[in-house]
Amino acid sequence: MATITIRDTQETIQGEEQVQAFLSEQGVLYEKWDPAKLPDTLQGVTGLSDEDKETVLSVFDSEIRSLAERRGYHNWDVISLNEQTPGLEDLLKKFEQVHTHTEDEVRAITAGSGIFIIKSEDKGYFDVNLAPGDVISVPVNTPHFFTLTDEREVVAVRLFIEKEGWVAHPYNDPEFEEAK
Ligand SMILES: [Fe+2]
Repeated sequence: MATITIRDTQETIQGEEQVQAFLSEQGVLYEKWDPAKLPDTLQGVTGLSDEDKETVLSVFDSEIRSLAERRGYHNWDVISLNEQTPGLEDLLKKFEQVHTHTEDEVRAITAGSGIFIIKSEDKGYFDVNLAPGDVISVPVNTPHFFTLTDEREVVAVRLFIEKEGWVAHPYNDPEFEEAK
């Protein structure tokens, strides 16, 4: 279950209805998948082989196709990160730059955890702490970045509309630099 922290006020939002209401106000899609659908061998497991990733995609095939149909995605894959991932530190440094995309950024967490830090129009930056089963879409052109929690491991399904949309456009934000 996702929780939210608003950075400026340190206000925390918890509980499915409250989280859903806050995110929908912010234009952020939030849905749930059932991570218990994964075979026991992949429950809570990160550092997946290519074969494991295919299994994740086939387990959630109907959820993926439903999202794709509703929102126009054409490609999807699985990203799997943990301490064994080569170059994890450099990868995280790259992730942790505030940026925007020309399409929305969808992630469905199936194991581990992660945080999307998103810029609100009226509330500054807020953190969305994601657990297995949480599905989120950061709206197009909305400044944001992704990072791992202290757990430092995640498996997520990513959906894309087209290749060009994957590109990260840096967003230099003095407000964010001051807040760090
Ligand atoms: Fe992004």
